[in-house]
Amino acid sequence: MIIDTHAHYDDEKYDEDREELLASFWAGGVSKVINMGTRIETSLSTVELAKTHENVYAAVGIHPEELEGLVPDYISVLWGLTAEKKVVMIGEIGLDYYWDKDHKEEQKKVFREQLQLAARLGLPVSIHSREAAEDTINILEEEVAAATAKGQRLTGILHCFGYSTEMAKRFISLGFLLGIGGVCTFKNSKKLKETIKEIPLEKLVLETDAPYLAPEPYRGKRNSSLYIDFVAAAIADLKGIEKAEVLAKTEENALKLIPGLSAG
Ligand code: NI
Repeated sequence: MIIDTHAHYDDEKYDEDREELLASFWAGGVSKVINMGTRIETSLSTVELAKTHENVYAAVGIHPEELEGLVPDYISVLWGLTAEKKVVMIGEIGLDYYWDKDHKEEQKKVFREQLQLAARLGLPVSIHSREAAEDTINILEEEVAAATAKGQRLTGILHCFGYSTEMAKRFISLGFLLGIGGVCTFKNSKKLKETIKEIPLEKLVLETDAPYLAPEPYRGKRNSSLYIDFVAAAIADLKGIEKAEVLAKTEENALKLIPGLSAG
């Protein structure tokens, strides 16, 4: 069965048919979806979605493009939300210097604080990182070392991985996995295709980032976890293995990384 490790089904693009769509996943081979928080409000709506849908799990967190108006006690708010059993990750958190070059220090601070929260709670993180490879890896190296020194575990997924293969190896050596979605089916994604060929299947998980980044042949349309099959097929093609192996192994990887998916 397919596990979609990163999606946004509380997005208004699903307002018309959310119930039907989520209900159709099981028959389409998708057993679990992890919905991401991006602000306090979407962390709340994500938890609500998870509580009311058996196949939806939640991540709570503050996205680097959503820092405006962030309440000072946001960490305690997020912490409180993790009391719900179906909160299985902290996300989506990270750094984005593509959309916002003016608040780098604030982004780094909020990223670190949420990494520390995740380590304290033993929850894996879902990381958004764009044009910020060096700062992301440096912060992760420091925070993983700090967590380990305290007997805590800090691990997670580099969502929508798009950096070099060398960078991929550095993240993997820290214990992180790469989230692979629709981009790997795009004609112009040469760099990512090289990375997928070179990185062991044990280090990859599948994702949509729905409603964004639908794979070919749906590129540009609203994404759905049902399309992950096209991503698995592309990975299988690049690695010269069967799609079934990609699906089985990536599911195993996700279950191993995110214990909360198997709880209850
Ligand atoms: Ni996302």
